Amino acid sequence: MPGQGKPLAKICVRALNVLMPDKPDLESAYALQTPEDSRKLYAVWATTYDTDFAEQSGYILHEQVARHFALMGGFGPVLDVGAGTGLCGEALRARGIEPVDGTDISAEMLEVAGKKDTYRNIFPGDILAGLEGTQDSYQGAVSAGTFTTGHVGPDGIDTVVHAVRPRGWIVLSVNAKHYRAAGFEAKMAELAATITDVSATEVAIYGPDATGPHAKDVALLLAFRKA
Ligand SMILES: C[S@@+](CC[C@H](N)C(=O)[O-])C[C@H]1O[C@@H](n2cnc3c(N)ncnc32)[C@H](O)[C@@H]1O
Repeated sequence: MPGQGKPLAKICVRALNVLMPDKPDLESAYALQTPEDSRKLYAVWATTYDTDFAEQSGYILHEQVARHFALMGGFGPVLDVGAGTGLCGEALRARGIEPVDGTDISAEMLEVAGKKDTYRNIFPGDILAGLEGTQDSYQGAVSAGTFTTGHVGPDGIDTVVHAVRPRGWIVLSVNAKHYRAAGFEAKMAELAATITDVSATEVAIYGPDATGPHAKDVALLLAFRKA
């Protein structure tokens, strides 16, 4: 039996280290289970996320999402869901797409984003609990890296659709393994009457020079319009 013979305290400390490591990384992010876990992990990760994670790992998913939103003809105002430190907002603005508002469950990640002067507004929110006062407020919405293992499942899409105006474009990245495991296919079928122009495009999460166990991980870019 796993853990047999080990004192309970040791097992608990090990579990805590996975969720609240001294140095957060992708493995600790994938081990999250609840919105509260995300709040705690990203509070610690916020100030080093851009350098220790995004730059070092060759993370490009924010660029993929922004490029796809532009290709689809998306325009502002845009809501960036799970905006984190603002990478996707920067990528949108680099393509002339603005204004962009950002929301995230982590106040600390948003604090970093706020210093970049990228967003018109930033506000905290748990997309699994809904974003009050956002109905039909945006011409489009994006999300990079938030619909992934340990983070947000398919029900988060309802909040995004709610915030966008009819005919507005939505482009969300969904980690490909998470898509299959968490039931995104069933969610997209459930939404069929409320969305149009649906496509799913497989893209790399990390650039060609990335190394390590997740270097070849892929995401699906779900693109669709609110009916
Ligand atoms: C991997 S980061 C991606 C951040 C940014 N979009 C990027 O591409 O760098 C995932 C983000 O999702 C946020 N998040 C996790 N659960 C959330 C929830 N339920 N509601 C809103 N944001 C959430 C985290 O706080 C974190 O900032």
